[in-house]
Amino acid sequence: MEKDLESIIVLDFGSQTTQLICRRVRELNVYCEIFPYDKFPKEKKFIIGVILSGGPFSVNDTDAFKSDLSFIRGKYPLLGICYGAQYLVYMSGGKVEKSGIREYGRAILTSVKKMDPLMKNISNCSQVWMSHGDTIVSLPKYFIPIANTEDVKYAAYRIEGEKTWGVQFHPEVSHTEDGMRLLDNFLTICNARRNWTSKNFIDSTIDQLRMNLGNDKVISAVSGGVDSSVCAVLLNKAIGKNLICIFVDNGLLRKGEFLKVLKDYESFGLNVYGVDAQNFFYKKLAGVKEPEKKRKIIGGGFIDIFEQEARKIKGIQWLAQGTIYPDVIESLSIRGVIIKSHHNVGGLPNKMNFKLIEPLRLLFKDEVRRIGYELGMKKCFIERHPFPGPGLGVRIIGEITPERVHTLQEADDIFISGLREWNLYNKFWQAGVVLLPVKSIGVMGDERTYEDTIVLRVVTSVDAMTADWARLPYDFLAKMSNEIINKVKKVNRVVYDISSKPPSTIEWE
Ligand code: XMP
Repeated sequence: MEKDLESIIVLDFGSQTTQLICRRVRELNVYCEIFPYDKFPKEKKFIIGVILSGGPFSVNDTDAFKSDLSFIRGKYPLLGICYGAQYLVYMSGGKVEKSGIREYGRAILTSVKKMDPLMKNISNCSQVWMSHGDTIVSLPKYFIPIANTEDVKYAAYRIEGEKTWGVQFHPEVSHTEDGMRLLDNFLTICNARRNWTSKNFIDSTIDQLRMNLGNDKVISAVSGGVDSSVCAVLLNKAIGKNLICIFVDNGLLRKGEFLKVLKDYESFGLNVYGVDAQNFFYKKLAGVKEPEKKRKIIGGGFIDIFEQEARKIKGIQWLAQGTIYPDVIESLSIRGVIIKSHHNVGGLPNKMNFKLIEPLRLLFKDEVRRIGYELGMKKCFIERHPFPGPGLGVRIIGEITPERVHTLQEADDIFISGLREWNLYNKFWQAGVVLLPVKSIGVMGDERTYEDTIVLRVVTSVDAMTADWARLPYDFLAKMSNEIINKVKKVNRVVYDISSKPPSTIEWE
């Protein structure tokens, strides 16, 4: 699949919006992949065009990201965005200097040369989004301006005699009104066939899986989450009963989730069995308060249970994982700082001597969801909020005990059911409840209470890299607070988390 697919390559110079460029291109039904700025995949076939991303540096910085473009320029249609555009100018002897005026935020495009194929149907006076401290002050020979703004003389240019363009604004962000049209024009210049669709992905992935796996047996850990479930349903379609799925109850799932999800899996026709390992995890976690330690114990415990179960099944050669594209690029990232030890996947294959298969590794989350729909999975399953691998373990601050898990499960169940009843669940990226190790004084009837605190957390996001707290209706919050305090034993206070990411994170641990 990967081999035969026509693709656009985005070279990443470190911009915050590199992934967004890639997603936009894919929304236009063309497969797109990200590579570090200096790792152009020369050997790759079927590249139809290249995009240079923006970046945090000035091209004049000594430590700025610089790469040899000689095997790209003139060979593939090329679009430089922001830093990418400035870098092309700099490399050809033009001048890029610190900008005297602010070039952040909204600007209005003027003098648009609509005859230029990149500018076809781009409106004069449309809004574009700028974000740079430097600006191009002189263009090299053969570089022709094709649009400007009030403050930016060379907002866009092309190079005569080459299929190379540069834009100093960001066509990939939604604030650039004609941004998608501009990217679409670039794809037309690249003669894109636009064959990146869910159906094509499924058909070709199934063919490829059947070819690679033959009659081999594959094991997969499923979590009830969208990625591992879509991965399993896709594999099931390709190899049927040769796929064996294991669903572990680590005692940190939502209320009633284990049986509900197992039932759903069975309805998809999956060959799945559940393992009740609650006590195993509670024992290992007893007395542990430190967040990273808890995460390691839960991740390690999962591997232990999985290994133990896998050993019982004979003749397994492959391990399937629902790894998706953001995980893949994160691990290749030219920035990358580990904030939390996420995605406790990596450990399994090395230890267990399985070959690894990751059929979703090319997809973004929204694409995984579309594949799920195309495979006929139920809406309520596909639209589930993301849920962390360590489960409620990262939402119980302090020690994890079965009693505290129970308190959190009850509060969480009231809250999530409430969001659904009020038609709010699908409007947000993620929702959950956190249990604090903080007791406070309250009064119930005439009694003084001294009990636990529950935090409600709901965020908007597109990819979990950044997030904002959801502006929930006060009436809803009031109802939830009442219900939780009245119905959940040992809780006498509910608070709402109004922190965005950054500087906070979505989960508390
Ligand atoms: P943070 O808390 O880093 O979370 O803002 C970002 C997103 O990742 C989810 N998350 C995890 N997912 N294993 C996972 O599969 C993990 O260990 C893990 N930790 C956090 C989190 O729920 C949010 O969607």
